[in-house]
Amino acid sequence: MWRRSSKIKVSDLVSRGAGTNQIVLMQMQGTPELGRLKQLVPSIGTFFTKLPLEKAFYIEDNKRSISVRRLVAPSFNDIRLILNTAQAMALAQMRDPLQLVTFDGDVTLYEDGKSLMERAEVVPRLLKLLSMDIYVGVVTAAGYNDESGEMYYRRLQGIIDAIQCTTVLSDAQKENFSVMGGESNYLFRYNVEKGGLKWVDPKEWLLEEMSSWSESDINNLLDLAEEILSKLINQMSLPATIVRKHRAVGLVPNDGEKLTREQLEETVLVTRRWLKSSGPAQRIKFCAFDGGSDVWVDIASKDLGVASLQRYFEGITPKTTLHIGDQFASVGSNDYQARLVGSTVWIANPQETVNILDDLVKYIDHEKAFR
Ligand code: IMP
Ligand code: MG
Repeated sequence: MWRRSSKIKVSDLVSRGAGTNQIVLMQMQGTPELGRLKQLVPSIGTFFTKLPLEKAFYIEDNKRSISVRRLVAPSFNDIRLILNTAQAMALAQMRDPLQLVTFDGDVTLYEDGKSLMERAEVVPRLLKLLSMDIYVGVVTAAGYNDESGEMYYRRLQGIIDAIQCTTVLSDAQKENFSVMGGESNYLFRYNVEKGGLKWVDPKEWLLEEMSSWSESDINNLLDLAEEILSKLINQMSLPATIVRKHRAVGLVPNDGEKLTREQLEETVLVTRRWLKSSGPAQRIKFCAFDGGSDVWVDIASKDLGVASLQRYFEGITPKTTLHIGDQFASVGSNDYQARLVGSTVWIANPQETVNILDDLVKYIDHEKAFR
């Protein structure tokens, strides 16, 4: 039978005032380090909303039988889903209405390596968010330096065709859909006149931080990444090939081959460590991550991608932003960075994305009804 830890109990945290309410208050006062939660977990980041954890626990307990289980202790997934539910409830509050929801691509909107097709269950949910005047963005690592937007159309055909055909959305709502590719390198926005994605000139959205990066630093970092990844292919005899792109270098398995989780992790950790100490990395941001079957080093990161959308769509703040993704393990993951600029929800597959969107809309409708 599982037992509660004798060290920290949830009830103790609540009664000692260690909840998110207290840490949000301490952040507002400029002294987050005095928050009890921060003292218990020093590495904890910024909270953009309070989290109704107790209510969320009761909801997930009903679904997952957490408290009545006798032999299986509360798991990582139980906790992850409680936090997701609490986050969705917090963002449904009407005081600071949700303005922007961004989505990762692979694993979040569609299965790994696949595309978003017409009949995907998530498509009507994305349209629903747009109909509620919420900006919807896809912030993906997948980088295609092609102003026609054809490659992103191929990956996201289901939602783009749906936006084009729907009579439910106004033109303005349709144009609230965007795609930020290559972490934060290529922005496309739905354009009613074109009936599809239109490339947006970086002058209109590039953050100051990124516009100061020099081409030579970018290329030197990518050259170094390519050299390190090539060495690792040799050293570990990996059945893989290097793919060099405009703003990224990838190590992808050869046709019919598969890399083990351990090989992928070793590759990311070694590459990241070498790159971090390099000269260009002191001046520009990069992201090295394990994509589940491949490894990529991208220039920039998803925090910059989400922040660019916040700025481009004018005045969107972190507390009214939600990013939904699958990669939040702290090392070697690319959605993790989005935590710096907004609230996040950590899903494990596209079905969980559908579930959390249904919950989110339900909570927003409920809040509106009782306003
Ligand atoms: P995301 O989950 O939408 O962020 O996409 C990550 C996946 O996109 C990676 O695992 C790769 O398989 C794929 N991908 C394709 N092109 C790129 C690129 O230029 N950089 C990083 N990942 C890429
Ligand atoms: Mg993903």
